[in-house]
Amino acid sequence: KKLIIINGPNLNLLGKRETNIYGNMSFTDFFESIVKKFPDLHLEHFQSNIEGELIDKLQEVGFGYDGIILNAAAYTHTSIGIGDAVKAIETPVVEVHISNTFSREDFRHQSFISPNAQGIILGFGLQSYELAIQSFIA
Ligand code: DQA
Repeated sequence: KKLIIINGPNLNLLGKRETNIYGNMSFTDFFESIVKKFPDLHLEHFQSNIEGELIDKLQEVGFGYDGIILNAAAYTHTSIGIGDAVKAIETPVVEVHISNTFSREDFRHQSFISPNAQGIILGFGLQSYELAIQSFIA
């Protein structure tokens, strides 16, 4: 199966950024560990701080890949464009968040992704991504 993890703004700073919330492991290190853990999967990772680049990537993979694991980070709560892209594509999207966004500020309680996601996994730290990968393994 061909899966891609798409990470939005500031997630390139994982391991350095608000480590009390997001932990101290870099995404590169984490990604290496899950690639090893799921040798039968074709796993890719893409990160951008730019809203339009995230939309371009969703469109690019959204008619060919078997699954998309999307952490749109702050754009989750603001981007109608990313929400529309998730709706427009055929590949199922699992929305992921590292933190439990519902235990945080009110502005994090809204998501433009959720209505069109196949499912949502949040609050389990980096393990949220792994649980999302597992959801694509039949
Ligand atoms: C996040 C939660 C968002 O509210 C926040 O803007 C992020 C990361 C998470 O993974 O917990 O950047 O998506």
